[in-house]
Amino acid sequence: MWTILASPIAVLGGCGSSAAKPEQSSTVSDAAAGAIWISRSGCGSCHQIPGIMHASGLVGPPLIHFSQRTIIAGYLPNTRANLARWIQHPQQVAPGNAMPDAGLTDKQARDITTYLYGLK
Ligand code: HEC
Repeated sequence: MWTILASPIAVLGGCGSSAAKPEQSSTVSDAAAGAIWISRSGCGSCHQIPGIMHASGLVGPPLIHFSQRTIIAGYLPNTRANLARWIQHPQQVAPGNAMPDAGLTDKQARDITTYLYGLK
């Protein structure tokens, strides 16, 4: 009796909780959009970034192996939220550092984050 009642509830609960977290799902098209924002924002004038044409700058660190890093900019734990925050507001996070705020939207910063996490 209890098992029969409990299972549909568990299934519904599972659907509800995964639907409530769109932040955690990312798609190939988010990464492709991220690549476009990276190109348009001129990130490559300061960073080497695999897969982005002319991204060979040496002002900032190369953005390689980003999914395996533990710390962002020597300061923030490498989580999706922290990386998006750094990309959108580097001057807020570390005032005076050489990386400028590029005026990116939340969505643009998240797409760039998805692209960078695709760099194994
Ligand atoms: C004018 C040069 C400049 C531009 C343009 C620039 N950055 Fe940076 N970036 C830096 C510097 C310098 C650092 C290191 C900052 C620090 O460690 O305090 C940095 C750090 C980073 C980091 C952390 C790297 C690490 O190894 O932890 C990421 C990620 C990053 N930048 C992404 C971007 C993205 C994405 C763009 C484009 C939207 C961009 N940067 C544009 C100079 C730049």
